Amino acid sequence: MQNYSVAELLEAKNILQEIQIKGWVKTFRSNRFIALNDGSTIKNIQCVIDFDSTPEEVLKLITTGAAIEVKGVLVESQGKGQNVEIQVSEIVVLGASNPEEYPIQPKKHSMEFLRENAHLRIRTNTFSAVMRIRSVLSFAVHQYFINNGFYYFHAPIITGSDAEGAGEMFSVSTLNKKNPPLTESGEIDFKEDFFGKETNLTVSGQLEAETYAMALGKVYTFGPTFRAENSNTSRHLAEFWMIEPEVAFNDLDANMDLSEDFIKYILTYILEHCKDDLEFLEKRLLDEEKSKPAAERSELALRDKLKFVIDNNFKRVSYTEAIEILKNSKPNKKKKFKFPINEWGADLQSEHERYLVEKHFKSPVILFDYPANIKAFYMRLNDDGKTVRAMDVLFPGIGEIIGGSQREERLEVLKEKIQELGIDEKELWWYLDLRKFGTAVHSGFGLGFERMVQFATGMSNIRDVIPFPRTPQSAEF
Ligand code: 4AD
Ligand code: MG
Repeated sequence: MQNYSVAELLEAKNILQEIQIKGWVKTFRSNRFIALNDGSTIKNIQCVIDFDSTPEEVLKLITTGAAIEVKGVLVESQGKGQNVEIQVSEIVVLGASNPEEYPIQPKKHSMEFLRENAHLRIRTNTFSAVMRIRSVLSFAVHQYFINNGFYYFHAPIITGSDAEGAGEMFSVSTLNKKNPPLTESGEIDFKEDFFGKETNLTVSGQLEAETYAMALGKVYTFGPTFRAENSNTSRHLAEFWMIEPEVAFNDLDANMDLSEDFIKYILTYILEHCKDDLEFLEKRLLDEEKSKPAAERSELALRDKLKFVIDNNFKRVSYTEAIEILKNSKPNKKKKFKFPINEWGADLQSEHERYLVEKHFKSPVILFDYPANIKAFYMRLNDDGKTVRAMDVLFPGIGEIIGGSQREERLEVLKEKIQELGIDEKELWWYLDLRKFGTAVHSGFGLGFERMVQFATGMSNIRDVIPFPRTPQSAEF
């Protein structure tokens, strides 16, 4: 007997004798036909059992969700819908699944219900397709960078700095919360903490990645990052994975080129390697679209959306140009922007970003040269004294998917900025050292991995593309 996966059997060209396979029952009909799945593909294999020779106690246990092992012969299928099937000679129920209690029945469940059952939702077709794509996409990320001479850099998770300066950090402390030690002035005395100072979960691995780029040349991080922002949106998580390349001697133009090339590579990779899952998700989305009013339906099918990004040049537009466009635009005849843009200096909301991509340019957009005062301290100041070499990559349906910049490499300019923002220079002594010893132009960006998985799978809520989403008031699992 040889063990096989469902994917292997579905691809087999010949009749196979003496096969063995383990998996979970998706459905069982007419006391004969089991649709079996083992996670190796979205497709099920049909197992045909002999009703007469299968004991009644066993038949009763073949229910949705049960783990089974079957032995038999792989033959050409007699029925419609599949090329091959297994004629079962022996079946063992490894783990039953009481149908009275099992929450995941073969019917449509609401997304809210599935989120409440995050430990079981992976057993649905939708979630298994999404999470397989997530896995392949992360492989493609590593492959792209390794193929292009980058080193994988592991940024620390616990850190003393706030890379983005937005104060959205989860603190890490070993102090007794109920009764923390206090200084004479009544503040929490972190000297007695494990690290002897206040520490946080990282919001970005960028600052540390810069230290490695200034020796290894090209590095990237790919790890979890944390933001204690109280945003209940379909694009924000408190814990998300970020991919952050950092490259010595790259200016902002080279950084834009890298972001575009990288995105096109990983999306092309999944188009080639996740065909069945993408096809399944595309059909699911088309069904969903049918229930929407015609005006709100998406014009493109899922895979066409991926091709839209792959085939178009990303339009590069300065922030100043974008503001002029937005000031004179209405998203459509009936609706105004929720936050109308009236002046230079305003931060863009996702409605503006999506308008530029979906309605105005009809291509992915890279906005650059943002006002200094809406961006982080480390970005390189332009000669105009008021904009910085920042870039955001904007996507259809998502808005900002990448944020990046050329970094301020001039010690004095950086010091001035740090002072201006009231950041303690001593906290960043190591970061300033990079500008003292062998400083050079360098750039990088951060791609929110879940936003990319969202785009690639067409899922409308970011909570449905990460196994156990952490959002305000939800960390049950
Ligand atoms: O624009 P952000 O804040 O940039 C940085 O953190 C830089 N240090 C990156 C760098 O230059 N190395 O975040 C980068 C990206 C965003 O464009 C977005 O895709 C994603 O991270 N992101 C989030 N994704 C999910 N939930 C959140 N709360 C996110 N915040 C940012
Ligand atoms: Mg950003």
